[in-house]
Amino acid sequence: MPKLSNRTDTFSESMIRKMTRISIDNDAINLSQGFPDFNPPKKLLDRMAEVTYENHHQYEVTWGSQALREALAKKHEHFSGQKVDPDKNIVVTCGSTEAMMATMLTVCNPGDKVIVFSPFYENYSADAILSSAIPIFVPLNPPEFTFDADVLEDAFKQGPKAIIVCNPSNPSGRVFTYDELRIIAGLAKKYDTFIITDEVYEHIVYAPYKHVYMSAMEDISDRVILCNSLSKTYSITGWRIGYIIANDEVIDHAKKVHDFLTVGTAAPLQEAVVTALKFDDSYYKELLDIYTEKKNIFINGMKELGFEYTDPQGAYYVMVNVAKYGVTDDIKFCEWMAREVGVGAVPGSSFFRENINNYVRFHFAKNSNTLYEALNRLSTLDKKATAAKGQF
Ligand SMILES: Cc1ncc(COP(=O)(O)O)c(C=O)c1O
Repeated sequence: MPKLSNRTDTFSESMIRKMTRISIDNDAINLSQGFPDFNPPKKLLDRMAEVTYENHHQYEVTWGSQALREALAKKHEHFSGQKVDPDKNIVVTCGSTEAMMATMLTVCNPGDKVIVFSPFYENYSADAILSSAIPIFVPLNPPEFTFDADVLEDAFKQGPKAIIVCNPSNPSGRVFTYDELRIIAGLAKKYDTFIITDEVYEHIVYAPYKHVYMSAMEDISDRVILCNSLSKTYSITGWRIGYIIANDEVIDHAKKVHDFLTVGTAAPLQEAVVTALKFDDSYYKELLDIYTEKKNIFINGMKELGFEYTDPQGAYYVMVNVAKYGVTDDIKFCEWMAREVGVGAVPGSSFFRENINNYVRFHFAKNSNTLYEALNRLSTLDKKATAAKGQF
């Protein structure tokens, strides 16, 4: 057989998806891959059923149906204050995953550098490799997960084409403050760099924190490329609907990349989801109430069980410090925990560039009963892990 491309040689299997498989194999509660185990809004499901018998079964406009782009533009303006032209400033993609990949291919030539904060959502390094870009990692220092502005500037001095800003951030749960975002904005201006934002958790930001849209900052809006998704906001991770918002020129390029990558996301689902984009503010308030309750259940559980954990400002992930169990291989630890404790989590090392392997990441986008059962199982962790010290 001829030799295969070496493009993926440095990829390891996605740890998140691997832990999902291990959770299933061990009948463990899967708190690894971040998706809800509850239904999307009923109105959306009803609309999906209707759409089945409407005429939406063939290729749509490759960069997204007119109705969907118009609805996205309206909703984005409502929350961010930024006016965008649905014909010139939006490409609908197969999830934020494709939005990010298409953006990287739009922006980067082989060898271009891209700043990535560490810990990071694991797709970013794969996106960089697939687009032949070189990541420059800048630490978000635990436990607060803040960055050092001088270290960040040193990275900018290396002449990156772009910086990726995941806000709210997975896995750290950080919601960057206005001042932090202004530091990034100032450096991006000074060093003429694109800012690629990933804002899939824009509506899951816990009080008193607030989501700030960099794309709405007038002095830099032209250099911001926003990648977003309907996956988390409407509990439809399987529908694969995301989008890019950027200036006309970027979108012209991104449309071409997207067209040849995927042609488009599912036409009937594009039509159905327009209904959700027209929900009023009460929907987003209720969504946040639901996640706030889940966060409280999980965080209170962690506190009662005596774990050291991060209290997220946004998104739905908690990093728990497992150093006290002498963990030197967090992958082994997570496999052991799925098997012996019955709860699946993601080894923290898969998010860090640095050699940090004393964290595991849980997500809490689950029904309350599932969370209580997970906490019940986790109440055995301390004893079992202490007894098993040395095995991981
Ligand atoms: C930060 C972040 N970006 C993107 C995604 C993927 O989004 P999508 O389902 O729209 O591809 C996830 C999923 O967990 C995520 O956490």
